[in-house]
Formats: sequence, structure tokens, C-alpha cells
Amino acid sequence: MAIRPYKDKHPQFGQRCYIDESAVIVGDIQTGDDVSIWPLVAARGDVNHMRIGERTNVQDGTVLHVTRKSAQHPKGYPLIIGDDVTIGHKCMLHGCTLGSRILVGMGAIIMDGAVVEDDVFIGAGCLVPPGKTLKSGYLYVGSPAKQARPINEGERAFLKQSAENYVQLKEDYLAD
Ligand SMILES: CC(C)(COP(=O)(O)OP(=O)(O)OC[C@H]1O[C@@H](n2cnc3c(N)ncnc32)[C@H](O)[C@@H]1OP(=O)(O)O)[C@@H](O)C(=O)NCCC(=O)NCCS
Repeated sequence: MAIRPYKDKHPQFGQRCYIDESAVIVGDIQTGDDVSIWPLVAARGDVNHMRIGERTNVQDGTVLHVTRKSAQHPKGYPLIIGDDVTIGHKCMLHGCTLGSRILVGMGAIIMDGAVVEDDVFIGAGCLVPPGKTLKSGYLYVGSPAKQARPINEGERAFLKQSAENYVQLKEDYLAD
């Protein structure tokens, strides 16, 4: 079973979501409507919770996980992802908080306590260290992530368009 509970916590999906049959989705995970989760994604909401907003897509081979509560970090680090977020192929999102209309480039790594504000472009292969905040309206690249430049109007529009493209694509898959 690729979608399964951890203890009494079952994954819960919104309306019209597409979950590829090879994805593994475990535990305390809730998504909004029109979310798509593509082949070989591993999402494990066991030691903390995970929330994924509407129309967000999680592309092939991405790993999503969370960090448990501790004396030092009483809330631990849940994973919170907003609306219209594109998460590219083979990313690693761990215990971080993302706003809405964000593109996470292929192979990016975002670590515990990092915060990505709305309308941010993250370049392929970027590493966002623990606790770092990426400011709204900028492109970040590199390891560790550095602010490269403000995003332009075309890129700002693309953030929403990319999510919409994936909403259309998952409709094709749901129709098959
Ligand atoms: C960063 C990115 C947005 C390009 O931004 P750009 O401003 O158009 O950058 P350019 O292509 O003009 O390159 C500018 C410089 O950044 C470098 N660069 C490009 N992409 C980079 C990246 N991901 N990380 C680090 N450096 C990068 C280029 O080599 C170039 O360096 P130089 O000036 O020393 O030659 C793009 O390369 C990228 O990473 N997009 C993410 C795509 C993706 O993963 N989509 C999700 C899958 S669906």
C-alpha cells in the first residue's frame, strides 16, 4: 500500500488530486484541492505533520519529511507548503515552510526551519540552510543559497502558470 497511516494519522487529500501509484505517502499529511504528486515521491508525515496547499505539484523523485519535537525545538519542524507551488524533480524539502507561488528548481534542498516567502524562484541545485529566510520577489541560486536578483514580470507570471500547467497535466492523468 503506497498511501498508508502512521499510528492513527491517515493522509487526507482534497478534491481532484492526482497521486501517482508509485508515490509513497505516509501519516499526517493533508493536501488542498488539485494537488499532484508524481512518480517516486516519498512523503513521510510521521514524527510531525505536513500540509500542502491547493494546486501545488510535487515532481518525480522528491523527498518530503519533517523533524520531531525536542526540548530544544518544542514544535519540531513540520513541513508547510502553500498554494501554486512547483516543486521540481528530485528535491528534498525537510521541515521547512514555503509560501505560495514558488518554484523550487530541480534537485534543490531546503532544510529545517527555513522559510521561503511568496513569489520566489529557487534555482536548480540550490541549498537553503536551516533557518534561512528567502525574501519575496527574488531569485536565489547556489549552495548555500544567495539572492541573485529580483524576479521579472515574466517570471512572476510563470510561477502561477507553472502550477496551472500541472493542474492541466494531472487532469489528463486522472482522465486516463
Ligand atoms: C537560475 C535560472 C532560473 C536561470 O536564471 P537566469 O538569471 O536566467 O540565469 P542565466 O541562465 O542567465 O545564467 C546566469 C548565471 O547563473 C548561472 N546559473 C544558471 N542557473 C544556475 C543555477 N541553478 N545555480 C547556479 N548558477 C546558475 C549561469 O551559469 C550563469 O553564470 P555565469 O554568469 O557565471 O555564466 C535557471 O537556470 C534555473 O535553475 N531554473 C530552474 C528550472 C527548474 O529546475 N525547474 C523545475 C523543473 S520543472
